[in-house]
Formats: sequence, C-alpha cells, structure tokens
Amino acid sequence: MQSDAGTSGFTTTDGVAVVTLDSPPVNALSKALRSHLATALRAADADPAVRAIVLIGAGRGFSGGADITEFNAPPAAPTLHDVLDVIDASGKPVVAALHGVALGGGLELALTCTYRVAAPCAKLGLPEVKLGLLPGAGGTQRLPRVVGVEAALDMIVSGDPVSASKAQAIGLVDEVVPGDLKAGAIAFANRVAGATIRRTRDRDDKLEAARADAGLFDRYRSANARRFRGFEAPAACLKAVQGAVELPFNDGVAQERALFVQLLSGEQSAAQRYAFFSERLAAKVPDIADDTPTLPIKKVGIIGAGTMGGGIAMNFLNAGIPVAMVEARAEALERGRATIRRNYDNTAKKGRLKPEDVETRMGLLSPGLELEALADCDLVIEAVFEEMSVKKDLFGRLDGIVKQGAILASNTSYLNIDEIAATTARPEHVIGLHFFSPANVMRLLEVVRGAKTDPSVVATSMQLAKTIGKVAVLVRVCHGFVGNRMLSARQDQANTLILDGAMPWDVDRVLTGFGMPMGPFQMADLAGLDLGWTRERSTGQTVREVLCEAGRFGQKTGGGFYDYDEARNRTPSPVAERAILDISAHEGRTRRTVTDQEILERCLYPMINEGAKILDEGIASRASDIDVVWINGYGWPIYRGGPMFYADTVGAGTIVERLRAYELPTSPLLDRMAREGGRFNK
Ligand code: 3HC
Repeated sequence: MQSDAGTSGFTTTDGVAVVTLDSPPVNALSKALRSHLATALRAADADPAVRAIVLIGAGRGFSGGADITEFNAPPAAPTLHDVLDVIDASGKPVVAALHGVALGGGLELALTCTYRVAAPCAKLGLPEVKLGLLPGAGGTQRLPRVVGVEAALDMIVSGDPVSASKAQAIGLVDEVVPGDLKAGAIAFANRVAGATIRRTRDRDDKLEAARADAGLFDRYRSANARRFRGFEAPAACLKAVQGAVELPFNDGVAQERALFVQLLSGEQSAAQRYAFFSERLAAKVPDIADDTPTLPIKKVGIIGAGTMGGGIAMNFLNAGIPVAMVEARAEALERGRATIRRNYDNTAKKGRLKPEDVETRMGLLSPGLELEALADCDLVIEAVFEEMSVKKDLFGRLDGIVKQGAILASNTSYLNIDEIAATTARPEHVIGLHFFSPANVMRLLEVVRGAKTDPSVVATSMQLAKTIGKVAVLVRVCHGFVGNRMLSARQDQANTLILDGAMPWDVDRVLTGFGMPMGPFQMADLAGLDLGWTRERSTGQTVREVLCEAGRFGQKTGGGFYDYDEARNRTPSPVAERAILDISAHEGRTRRTVTDQEILERCLYPMINEGAKILDEGIASRASDIDVVWINGYGWPIYRGGPMFYADTVGAGTIVERLRAYELPTSPLLDRMAREGGRFNK
C-alpha cells in the first residue's frame, strides 16, 4: 500500500515513510535539498501512520555531499547540522538506502541515520581532504563510532571511498541489498521498526580500543608524514578524529566545526576546490556543442611497444577495449607484451586486480609486426621515435592502410600535428593524444587539436579520455604544447641558475620545498640526459653535453647531475659540480650567491609568463586548463592550485616587477594585467 508524497515531502509504503534526495546531477546537499529533508523528516516523524523512515537518493546516487558551490558564501539555514539534528531527535528509526555514491556530507547524513543499507554498486567515502577540508558535519565524530578509529582514519585521511562489501565488512553498512534497493530498504525498516533506537552519537564501544592506545595518533602521524608533506588538511583530520576519542560528542563536533571553518577560509582549500572545478571545466570545449556526434571506438591500434606504447595500450585494455599493438621487431614486441603482463601480475599480487581480470585484459591484446593489422582499428595512436621525418613517413603509410573514418593520433610531445596531418589525405581525422609517462599511471592527456581536426574527432577524443580515466585538456599546436613548453621555460632558467652560482641540488631543494615531487635536475636524471643527445652532434658547450660525453646519462647509468647507489639513492655529484664550474668559467661568468627566493622566482615566473603567452595565442582556452595540465601531468602541488592560480595569489604586478629585475622578458598579457590589476582567473 502506497500513499502519495503530497506536501509532506515523503511517500508511505507499508508504514514506512520514504524521503527522497532529488537534486540532479549528484544530489548535492544544497539549501533547497536541506530544507526539503528537514521538513520531510520532521513530518514523517510526526505522522502516526509512519513506523520507520527510509532516506534514499533519486537518479545515479545517494549524494555527492555538501554543495561545494555554496562554500564561498556564509552558511544558509537550515544547515546540514540542522538536518542531522532532526534525525537525531527522531523517535523512529531512519534507514539510509545507498546506491551510486554516498560522499562527504552525503555519507555524514547516512552516518547519522540509525541504519545503513546499500546496493552492491555503492561507494561510500569522505573525500573532503581532497578539497583541502575535513568532514565538517560530524563525520570525524560519527565514523569512528561506527567503524572504529583506525578504519575511520584510513577513510578520512585518504579520502578514498570504500565499496559496499568493504563497508559491510567494517560495519559501516548493516545490509547489502542485491535487488531492488528501495524495496529492500523498506523491508529492512519494517524489521527494525519499534526496536530501541541507538543513535550513532551515543555509541562509544568502537572508541574503546583507541582510548586504550595512547600512541595511536602519533604513530599514524609519523607513518604518514611523507604523504602529508605540504598539506594542511590531513593533520586537521587527525586532530578532529582524536577529538572523537578524547572529547564528549558535542565538544568533538565543535572542534571539528572550528577546524573545518579554518580550512575552508585558507588558501589550500581554495586552491583544491578550484582544481576540482577546473578539471570538470576542462572537459567542456567552448566551441564544440555537447551534442556533437562522436565516433565509436571499438578497437584501438598502438604503434610502438616500448614504455610509452605499452603504457598507452594498458589504458584501453583496462577499459575493456581491444588493442592491436604493432612493433617493427619481434623481440621488442615480445618485450612490450611481457612488460604489460608483468605490470598486471604485479598489480594482482598486491591484491588490486583479480587473476581472471589479468587474463581478460591480456586476452584483449593482439601483438603484431605489420601495420596492416591496424586496418580495422577505429583509432590508431603512434608512439614511435620523436622525429618528424619518422612520424611523417608513418602517417603517410597509415593513411593508405587504416580504414576511412578512423582517427589517426600521434603521441608526440613537441612536434607540429598539422605538419604530420598534411602527409595524409584525411587531416580532419588527425589529432595529437599526448600521454604522460608512465602512461598507465599519469592522469593527464593533452589532446592536441590541429588546424583541420574535425569537431567530432575532438569530441570523441575528449569522451574517450573520460572512458579511460584520464583528465583531458584540449590544446592547440605549438612546440611542446602547454606542458612541455612551460617546462622548457623553467628548464632554461634552471640551466642558467647553475652557471650563475647555484648548484642543481639547490634548485631541486627549492622546488621540492615548494611542493613539486622532484626538481628539474632530478627530473632530468630520471628521464635520461641523453634524450635527444648524440655523440656526433655534441659540442661539449653545455653541462648536459659534458655529462653525456662522460657517459653520465642519469639514473640509468648510475650518475648524471647526481650519483646514484644500487638502491637509486642520490647524492650530489662532484663530477657534475666540476663540469658546472668549468662551463661557468669558460663562459666568463663570475659565480655569485643565488638566494632561494631568486631560484624560486626565476624558475616559476618565466613559466607563468609562458602560460600568459599560451593564453594570448589561444593555445589553451583558459588559465584553469593550464593549471589542470600542471597538476595532473607534472605534479604541481594541488594545494597551490596550478601556476596560473599561484600567479593570481602573487599578483601580476609583482611577477612583472621581479621578471624585469632579472632582465627576463614579460609578455604583453602579463604586462597588461600588471598595469590594470588583472587576474588569470576572474
Ligand atoms: N557540489 C556541487 N557540485 C558538485 C558536487 C558537489 N559536491 N559534486 C559534483 N558536482 C557537480 C560537478 O561540478 C559537475 O558539474 P558540471 O556538470 O557543471 O561540470 C556535476 O556535478 C557532475 O559531476 P562530475 O562530472 O564529477 O560527475 P561524475 O559522475 O564523474 O562524478 C561525483 C560524480 C563522484 C559525485 C564527483 O562529482 C565528485 O567526486 N564530487 C565531489 C564529492 C565531494 O568531494 N564531496 C564532498 C563535498 S564537501 C562536504 O561534503 C563537506 C561536508 O563534510 C560538510
């Protein structure tokens, strides 16, 4: 028997009131939704015909949490805490029925409910830390009471969601409902109706173990120190959870609230929330309509079975898309195939992939030695040697082999896509898909649109990126596109700084101190100093050339700018130091003390200047796109929002003034912004 929602905000089935969160696309807990919940929950509690209440999400999930777009304004009543108070005051059990995602405030809502049931597909998490925040609606107090402190810390500090089955195993979910979730939740609610209500806030048993273990939080803090480096939010998360153990519930909530407000008003969270929205904005192409038809990609061809080709192939295999991988030599092909298998086997050994999934993925891979094997592919990506003549020759041949309508893509990191496209009779089907190494791990994909690339090819590439779990940023053709072009600007300065008086380890220390995962010279040693170097063309005029001439190619030869031991631990190299001093002297430079501030400014501001040029030239369509590239492709610290976001925090005026002080060029856009007080992000 079912009654209609009417004005009460709920429907009733068999004495169970069903209150629905219905606010597409993700049921974010906006003011309107909070008002609806408070009203409906109160009404259901007051209705004598109702014995229990079910809270369920409409659409693709339960709730994506608090409405992040409201964070820049003062909180509007009813707050999420007000809604939770209504649940806590309810005389009837409230059952949260979870499917899709229950994240952040959404999970905090569910945690306040008396019970939680979930569909097998549900994902439950408190991802606030990824936005530079902590769960601010009682999550740090209620989750430890439900699952215990250690499991709660893992979820809150990592921000990673857990599956329904894991949630059931740790006690977060009371029942997994395989079939109709709503019907299952109503049946569950009927079973528990009338039983004594045990509010989450009153549960203390799971806190006992932590109360008896005085060193727990300190141990957790030191074990994770590296992971937390530079971030403010994880420490605040820990402190809040510690409050759950040490303080009465209301005081714990008050402390959590204070920490939340502090983080919310800080620069790190502003940067991380900006990064969240920037990533989503990057997926939207200003001049291509959302309904632009896309091409079906049922089979992908990859040319090159090296590190790059293999890594790219894995992305598609992971997504269940068959891959034909072509390599010129049999042993290189076999090596590439074996590397892919080894990668999967290692993941399986760590328990992150089922053995049968390894077989399924390997079963989708067909290695071959002839380009003809690519004839029926819908997309072919080349990952061969970075040399224009090689690429041109290859594309010319592919044009004659691969079926009409298929996309031909180059993984080039620098070269002109238009020049490559011109060797085919289908330039409108040619595009750049610049993956970052290791390609199966790095999230960034620069999608390089040529002058003639068809909108449907762009739309297909952007959509495909999402299918394979990449963050795509659409860029136009220039040398090095967005990422590597800006990187070159930084590398030029790094190379000059070491001749002026700094040492590579000084430059690296300053940049890692800023939050980069590695500095320019550590990066060069890792990538290989011999990249693009040949003995025949070497002039011995640069430090890099001198090191290469001495056989010091970086990590792989045990030495480059640094010396490496067997375990790849690095120490500053006296050989590199000698080479630097020699070249400095040879160029007639008087070495001087270079301050850390100079290193930072000379490395970062020219990058920002290059970013301004990239914007002015229309290579990137938005400053935030540039930031998405740097966060996801180069490890720019997310809590600093990306180079263009960072530029806004410094101010264009200061940047221009410092660049001039170093006698470095400034772009017209940056100059204009400095004059007019402009910002990259409005
Ligand atoms: N608030 C406002 N808007 C949100 C949102 C949120 N919490 N979550 C998603 N959106 C928006 C996105 O910006 C996007 O908008 P657009 O279409 O205009 O670009 C739209 O919803 C769809 O989002 P996605 O494209 O990301 O859709 P997916 O299906 O790929 O992913 C999701 C859905 C997993 C919910 C993902 O959006 C996500 O991770 N959201 C953020 C979750 C989160 O961090 N929640 C915690 C919020 S903070 C909080 O709850 C504080 C509390 O403790 C007090």
